[in-house]
Parts: sequence; structure tokens; C-alpha cells
Amino acid sequence: MGQIQLNHVSKSFGSVEVIRPLDLSIEDGEFVVFVGPSGCGKSTLLRLIAGLEDVTDGEIMIDGKDATGIVPAKRGLAMVFQSYALYPHMSVRKNIAFPLRMAGLDKAEQDRRVNDAARVLNLTDYLDRRPGQLSGGQRQRVAIGRAIVREPAAFLFDEPLSNLDAALRVGMRLEISELHKRLATTMIYVTHDQVEAMTMADKIVVLQAGVIEQVGSPLELYRRPRNIFVAGFIGSPKMNLIGGPEADRHKAVTIGIRPEHIEISEEAGAWEGTVGVSEHLGSDTFFHIQTAVANGPITVRAQGELGLQYGQTVYLSPRAEHLHRFDSKGLRIQ
Ligand SMILES: Nc1ncnc2c1ncn2[C@@H]1O[C@H](COP(=O)(O)OP(=O)(O)O)[C@@H](O)[C@H]1O
Ligand SMILES: [Mg+2]
Repeated sequence: MGQIQLNHVSKSFGSVEVIRPLDLSIEDGEFVVFVGPSGCGKSTLLRLIAGLEDVTDGEIMIDGKDATGIVPAKRGLAMVFQSYALYPHMSVRKNIAFPLRMAGLDKAEQDRRVNDAARVLNLTDYLDRRPGQLSGGQRQRVAIGRAIVREPAAFLFDEPLSNLDAALRVGMRLEISELHKRLATTMIYVTHDQVEAMTMADKIVVLQAGVIEQVGSPLELYRRPRNIFVAGFIGSPKMNLIGGPEADRHKAVTIGIRPEHIEISEEAGAWEGTVGVSEHLGSDTFFHIQTAVANGPITVRAQGELGLQYGQTVYLSPRAEHLHRFDSKGLRIQ
């Protein structure tokens, strides 16, 4: 089991309220990602759930029981940090078994759990090595193994991939998703990287300045961001945000259109523009187009390879069904 409920939870450090009162439900077995810019309170929220910080107000329920005043070790949760915090002088086996030794489990049960975790994580051949003899990705797997053997109600990950290089991050991202499918245990995963959030989450919680801006599945957030912040944060390249009433007849103060939802033509279209920098990725081409409707360049994503010259005149047509409209407060207009 791993159902977690936050009721009116807030956190202040001194006079600074870093988590504003919020409610959140996490279902058993869900993969939930907290995402937002640096300093928005992601780690603090995770640490409140873990019990590493005390709430200023509100309550935290775990599997229907009030866990608000319970010490971290008794909450049945396991945390995996960005720094792996492995013991360098101990073998991988001993590192993974460490929490079980501390809990006084008998040796046979320790071995069973360590071997199971090693198998799931492809670490069986490395159990007798020291952490110093492992790659960064393998060390991160050892840290995850140490969490798995505790058989927690939920795993809490705080930016676990931030120390890895880009290629390894993508690999580990898939491994953690795969692990979630196999274990079917609740996971709460903190990242500032919206691509990690989009690719891994069942449910994304977007945070900004200690406030939940939106909760939803990746595609809900992509399709119907409820405000400009979420619109700009989710999606890569970013949604184009175009100001001014001349852009729209629905009284929207800002309209948004994603780069993949704009047609580009050399002949005709709604907005005339001039081609600026082009980025050729092979699978896609990103064009940055200067127009009279937007202050900055409008980014357009074309599928595959498309050759347009720098300085050339083109025409852009936003696909009407993909326009997002926002009012003067930045809230979505239905
Ligand atoms: N122990 C602390 N004492 C005072 N301020 C803190 C403490 N921990 C975090 N903060 C502040 O709370 C805010 C949120 O921090 P944090 O949760 O670490 O953000 P994130 O993980 O999203 O980058 C930041 O402004 C940070 O400086
Ligand atoms: Mg953090």
C-alpha cells in the first residue's frame, strides 16, 4: 500500500512561507512527479512527506493513518537522494543490505531481499565490488537497491539523475520507469526537468513559489494548461505566447500556440514573417521566425528536414483547434 494524502499542508522557515497551504492526493501505485523551477519548494514538499521536515500546519496521511507526527523511519517510505550516499568501504551487497542490518532482520531474509533487488537492478554480478569500482549509473542503482530492500510503501526520489551525464540520464529514466512497472509501488519523483516529468509520470504536480499550479497527467497538462506558467513550462520547444488583442478575437490577453501546431508555408498564411535561425535535428527542424504579431521570434517545429533560407519571407498559420487563450491574470479561458 502507498496512498498518501496531504491536507492543508504548509511549511515556513522563520517568517518565509515556502509551501503555501496545499492539498494533494497520491494514489497507491501511482508515479507522481513534482516539477518546477529551482527553489519552488519541491524538495521541501518531499521532505515533509518523508518526515525529514515538520509541517508548519496541516496533516499528512499515509494509507489512511495520520503520519504527521511520526518519525521518518516509521513512515514506511524510502528516500533516494541525488548524492548516492553509499559507504565506500562496504561492498555493494553490504551497502544494499545496510538498512536491513540496522533493522535486525535475520541473515537469510537479508540475503533473499538483496538478491531479489540485485536481480531487478542488474547488479547481481557486482555485489562483491566496492562503490568506487562502479559507474555513476550503477552507483545510483545501488542507492535504489538499498531503498527496494526495505519494501517501502512508497519511494521518494529527489533529483536522482542530476549527477549523471545526458545519455546516462535517459537510460536511467527508462530503468526507473521499468522498475515502477515491475514493482507497482507508489513513487514520488522530484525534478526540475519537464522532459523527465512528461516521460515518467502518471501524474505531474507543477509547483511554482510554493504553490501547486496544476495537477494532471502529462497529456492533460500539455493539452489544457490551466495558466500561462504551466503553458510555458510544459513542452519543448516552449509554447509561443503572443500578447495583444490584435492576435485574437476572443478577448484573450495572451494566446499560446505550440511550435508543432503552426503550419509554415512559402506561399500564404495568417502571419507573414522572416526566417531567423534554423535548428536542424534531422527528425525535426525548429525555425525561429520574426513576425509583426509577436515581440520575440515565433518558434515553429517542422517534421523532418525542411530547407528555408535565413532572411526568407514565409507565412505561418496556427492551427485553430490548438490555440490556447489566457486572460489578464494569465488564466486559461475555457
Ligand atoms: N532549511 C531551510 N531553511 C531556510 N530556508 C530553506 C530551507 N530549506 C529550503 N529553504 C528555502 O525554501 C525554498 C524552497 O527550497 P527547496 O524545497 O529546496 O526548492 P527546490 O527543491 O524546488 O529547488 C527555497 O527558497 C529555499 O531557499
Ligand atoms: Mg530540490
